[in-house]
Amino acid sequence: MTDLFSKFDALIGEREALLSHGVRDPYALVMESVKSPTVAMCNGKETILLGTYNYMGMTFDPDVLEAGKTALDNFGSGTTGSRVLNGTYAGHRDCEEALKEFYGMDHAMVFSTGYQANLGIISTMAGKEDYIILDIDSHASIYDGCALGNAQIVAFRHNDVEALEKRLKRLPPEAGKLVVLEGVYSMLGDIAPLKEMVAISKAAGAMVLVDEAHSMGFIGENGRGVAEAAGVMDDVDFIIGTFSKSVGTVGGFCVSNHPKFEVLRLVCRPYVFTASLPPSVVATAATSIRKLMHAGNKRAHLWENSKRLHQGLRDLGFQLGTPEAQSGIIAVIMTDMLKGAQMWEALLDRGLYVNLARPPATPAGMTLLRCSLCAEHSSEQVTQILGIFEAAGKQVGVI
Ligand SMILES: Cc1ncc(COP(=O)(O)O)c(C=O)c1O
Repeated sequence: MTDLFSKFDALIGEREALLSHGVRDPYALVMESVKSPTVAMCNGKETILLGTYNYMGMTFDPDVLEAGKTALDNFGSGTTGSRVLNGTYAGHRDCEEALKEFYGMDHAMVFSTGYQANLGIISTMAGKEDYIILDIDSHASIYDGCALGNAQIVAFRHNDVEALEKRLKRLPPEAGKLVVLEGVYSMLGDIAPLKEMVAISKAAGAMVLVDEAHSMGFIGENGRGVAEAAGVMDDVDFIIGTFSKSVGTVGGFCVSNHPKFEVLRLVCRPYVFTASLPPSVVATAATSIRKLMHAGNKRAHLWENSKRLHQGLRDLGFQLGTPEAQSGIIAVIMTDMLKGAQMWEALLDRGLYVNLARPPATPAGMTLLRCSLCAEHSSEQVTQILGIFEAAGKQVGVI
């Protein structure tokens, strides 16, 4: 009998080899208590959080917490049902209204996660005779959306405008086409050249979907994302986003101006065949989204933090994923997984948590220490973070 687990033997071996060097398991960290958006207790030690997606620091906002508590008291702990049956409460509708206000768009659909929003919209919109044209470094949820549907998949080189144009030109002019892009690519924290890419896609008759998971709340004058900053909001057909990053809770969404958008509520399987978000979650999301509309000062402070960290790490001699700070993510490139794990542990021992990212999530087989900044990080914390990186980098021999 074949052991179905045997396909994981290489991975199990790799993990055992890593732990045999005596490093702590980088994927088994427990946050024992969380004190604020930027500080938690880990291994009994007060730790600065530099590896959350809590860009705007909304998780402890008093209005957000209050809205969640009130909804919990008034509507109970869960909906126990699908959005199309018993799972749409007043709060889900209100959350969709908040998204329409935030993006200035006609339609909004709230999913249970951002992963499901990509899964649902991509698999439903692109059918058998259609083409999906996507950046090769797209998030797993985009690839899984492609796998769930049955369209033809065409990938192009990361952020390469010419490669996108070439691929589009090779496709039958009359075929349905969906170009899938991300505003910020989450591994290196680099942004897409959306102005050029959206123009090329539209000229080729394609619809365009932009996943703004890592830019919502932060990038663009009103925090609508890279599409806003690039001035192409009106040409984007679908914006996908998540509540699990700047919004500070959990959930996903799609907004659109397409007049037929509402039909998706009936045909999108990852929307129909799953339970809706708990009332407390949509209440916290709606409150947070409305506050993010007026968070210009927080956006400015987050940019300041991001630029300072990027410059500081570069001055210390670390190799970074982008030539300048382009988003809230600063990726530090490690030579290999062992050095990455050792550095990760050295940072943690000094009271700093970052994400250790490895293939297949990362591009080009890279090992990365991904730092994500928060608008609630103080300037003192950024100074402290740089000091910890310097000491850990010297200890591990990275700088
Ligand atoms: C680009 C991108 N899209 C979608 C998602 C999925 O978001 P969620 O956490 O809401 O499932 C993520 C999460 O990491 C992401 O990075």
